[in-house]
Amino acid sequence: MNLESVVLRPVEESDLEVLSRFDAEPELAGSSWYGFRDAGRQRRRFHSDGWLGDEDGKLMVTADAEVAGFVAWASAGHGAGRYRSIGIALLPGWRGQGIGTQAQRLLCQYLFAHTAVQRIEAGTQPENVAEQRALQKVGFTQEGVLRSAEFRDGAWRDVIVYGLLRSDRLADQP
Ligand SMILES: CC(C)(COP(=O)(O)OP(=O)(O)OC[C@H]1O[C@@H](n2cnc3c(N)ncnc32)[C@H](O)[C@@H]1OP(=O)(O)O)[C@@H](O)C(=O)NCCC(=O)NCCS
Repeated sequence: MNLESVVLRPVEESDLEVLSRFDAEPELAGSSWYGFRDAGRQRRRFHSDGWLGDEDGKLMVTADAEVAGFVAWASAGHGAGRYRSIGIALLPGWRGQGIGTQAQRLLCQYLFAHTAVQRIEAGTQPENVAEQRALQKVGFTQEGVLRSAEFRDGAWRDVIVYGLLRSDRLADQP
């Protein structure tokens, strides 16, 4: 698999079944599983704005023209200083090949190109070594640990916060 074949594109109707699986199958979300979600929201939102809103959005990640997963973003912060928080989930068969790193790099390039934000943030779990490493490879800096910031799988858990500023250097290569 050539990483140059990794592309972000808008959600299409044919993607809705795959997206719904991330709401219904715990093993797909891994350490980001927070319980079942209304999988119908994927279709309703798609028919509302194609998952491309002013406040949040979602793009599909494809590799070799096949669906590998999705990336998402949402507004965070306050007033004129609002920034973007990003997330990603790949289907298990596409993990560990550099796609997660490349897709988040492409998403940051996209957000810096098409929004005026100064800052992009990503939070992940202490045990999610792959995501921490992927963010570091994109150019994110670990900024701190939010203690007991999420309730998941029966316990309060820490969240590690990473940040990338417009003025930081986006790493070019995986
Ligand atoms: C987290 C995720 C996006 C990472 O994407 P990926 O394509 O699997 O990761 P990459 O192949 O780009 O690898 C990035 C780095 O993590 C390392 N890595 C990959 N899988 C790993 C694993 N299971 N354990 C430890 N390190 C791992 C890679 O070796 C690489 O580091 P290196 O270059 O120093 O060797 C992907 O695994 C995923 O979708 N996981 C499930 C959902 C999830 O956790 N989303 C993030 C929620 S915060």
